[in-house]
Amino acid sequence: MGKSLIIYFSHTGENYFDDGLKQLEKGNTEIFAEHIAKAVDGELFKVEAVKEYPNGYYACCDVAKEELHQNLRPELKKQLADISAYDTIFVGYPIWWGTMPMAMFTQLEKLNFQGKKVAPFATHEGSGFGHSLTDVQKCCSGAKILDGLQIRGCKVEKSENKIAEWAKGCVKK
Ligand SMILES: Cc1cc2nc3c(=O)[nH]c(=O)nc-3n(C[C@H](O)[C@H](O)[C@H](O)COP(=O)(O)O)c2cc1C
Repeated sequence: MGKSLIIYFSHTGENYFDDGLKQLEKGNTEIFAEHIAKAVDGELFKVEAVKEYPNGYYACCDVAKEELHQNLRPELKKQLADISAYDTIFVGYPIWWGTMPMAMFTQLEKLNFQGKKVAPFATHEGSGFGHSLTDVQKCCSGAKILDGLQIRGCKVEKSENKIAEWAKGCVKK
């Protein structure tokens, strides 16, 4: 079995959680990523922007919207340069305004996905994948994009078995 890498973004702070605002100590997508890592013995890489996003949900929404409208590529704290050691790359994010946070674009566009398998996963509050899969496809040009898994944020913690089953299936494809 080849090696797996999980590249993900997740925002700790105030967020919508089961129809109310809640302060999250660990982001939903991060929990998802950790379930994958455990299931397939994968390595985790967290994408983090230099400029931190506001803690407050509405303030964060405003910043994210502006970044999307300006098609920004926020600078990252650290950046992966080489994924040649991995066969399966799990790419995960919260849906922000219908797609991935722009910081994911910054990272994914820097990598060579030729011949790789990419398994997208997302958390959200109702949008499913939104239009993010089209963006993943564009950013990961040359990869075989596998069927992804999206889960509503508040359901992630209790979905470990579902996530493990999906992740193991991706590695075998
Ligand atoms: C800036 C921002 C924009 C969001 N936009 C959407 C959206 O367009 N559709 C949706 O279903 N949920 C949206 N959400 C909800 C998040 O996708 C959801 O809460 C997700 O599970 C958060 O994951 P995280 O805790 O890993 O950051 C948004 C949340 C934020 C903070």
